[in-house]
Amino acid sequence: MTAPATDPIFQPLRINGLTLKNRVVRSSMGGRVDYYDGSMSEARIAWERRFAKGGVSAIISSNVGIRTDGIAVPGYASIDDDRTIPSWRRLIDEVHRYDCRYIIQLHFSGRQRDLPRKEFVGIHPPSATDRPDLLYGLRCRRMTIPEIHDVVRAYAQAARRARAAGADGIEIVACNGYLLHQFLSSAINDRRDEYNGDLRTRARILLDVLAAVRAEVGRDFFVSMKLSGRDEHNAYMAPFVRRVGNTIDDTMQLSRWLAEAGLDAIHLSQGDSFPHPLVPAGLLPADDSRYSLAGLFYEGTRVPLTFFLMQFAVLRRIFEWNWGRRMPFKQRGRLLPEKIEGMNQGDAAKLKAASGLPVICVGGWQTASRIRAALEAGHCDVVSVARGLLANPDMVQRFGQGQDAPERPCTYCNKCLVNALLQPLACWEESRFANRDQMFEEAYRIYKEAAVGPASEQAGVGSRAI
Ligand SMILES: Cc1cc2nc3c(=O)[nH]c(=O)nc-3n(C[C@H](O)[C@H](O)[C@H](O)COP(=O)(O)O)c2cc1C
Ligand code: SF4
Repeated sequence: MTAPATDPIFQPLRINGLTLKNRVVRSSMGGRVDYYDGSMSEARIAWERRFAKGGVSAIISSNVGIRTDGIAVPGYASIDDDRTIPSWRRLIDEVHRYDCRYIIQLHFSGRQRDLPRKEFVGIHPPSATDRPDLLYGLRCRRMTIPEIHDVVRAYAQAARRARAAGADGIEIVACNGYLLHQFLSSAINDRRDEYNGDLRTRARILLDVLAAVRAEVGRDFFVSMKLSGRDEHNAYMAPFVRRVGNTIDDTMQLSRWLAEAGLDAIHLSQGDSFPHPLVPAGLLPADDSRYSLAGLFYEGTRVPLTFFLMQFAVLRRIFEWNWGRRMPFKQRGRLLPEKIEGMNQGDAAKLKAASGLPVICVGGWQTASRIRAALEAGHCDVVSVARGLLANPDMVQRFGQGQDAPERPCTYCNKCLVNALLQPLACWEESRFANRDQMFEEAYRIYKEAAVGPASEQAGVGSRAI
């Protein structure tokens, strides 16, 4: 057992205005726990409290819409208006009580908008392109240049609100096929103007956003970006697609420009869509997925056909096979969990070396010895964890007590993910629980926790007009 005083996991780290008490942060996890109009619910506070109590040094919020037409799914707290500031402040104050930092993830979905809010139904979302996405066939429209400038300003205003709410930093989403990545990716961006041509022009909007954000929040506020190391896996599911997208060399070059432009850290993801066979890495549980597809029925041109095919068990097995076909962590149809954990650390090390920036590395982490080894090797500075913490929110506390791995680890089944569109965000892997009832009890616990507490504490939360 490594004593916490010398354990790399428990070494504090300062990055610009952000001080972390240890090297494990909760990665972003979107779940529809808030109100339809984007105002924050008490359940969100109960949800985040769970991870703060469990010992992580920081929490990266779920994706937070900076403008209503960029919200990926209604029912997530947004930051599109100054009226949201007090409810964010209340959440952040609560998380700070556990010596945990809070980072707000600024997000604009672009064409990868899964469920539009009612006022945007039938109105194609803005994007770099007007080609539908590969996975669902989600439609979109190419933005004009004034529209691009408006979005850049919206990022800056959202960053200002985050700082005003007491956040310890922000994370700008530029990965996994969301709006900024739609510009960045050579597999997606097909414009013929100053926002396409080479890597530098595709990166223009990211650099503009960073400059506008810095102008609002100053130099001492923590600003990170979530990037996909490679898009080149985009042919994973569709071998006939030739546009391979950005390579790790492209992302290394980008990381240098971002470092020069004043970015504080990179959060490393992978792939040109969400979900993607590599994010969150693991299985695609097609039996559960078909229910979520029902929610997407009218959004994507490809959804009705996929939905129809998914009604047949044999086709669901083929779909699962195709999803995992080229994964480096599947062998003869079997998942190799040991290959998932830390799968991005090689790319993390490359970005760190290229940019000199601290790198937060995501990807299956849930074992202390593996995290420790990656930190000791200098592959990354911090690890971020989503599903491992969803399964075991007190993981970091247990590492501190000498436990190496959770007794009931995350199985990477991805049932949490595919259910999150229509069902509560929770671990839905029954094998991890004593029985089915216990699974439901655990899933609904945040709603019970949200319901208790003095009325004075709850006043104003859940309403924008605070
Ligand atoms: C249910 C669920 C929701 C997620 N929502 C977001 C999100 O809102 N924003 C984001 O950047 N990543 C999101 N992710 C991706 C995670 O942050 C993380 O990058 C990915 O799950 C890989 O980490 P893991 O292997 O520790 O789960 C989500 C993942 C899951 C499972
Ligand atoms: S449902 Fe549970 S076990 Fe499955 S991936 Fe999600 S957190 Fe892990």
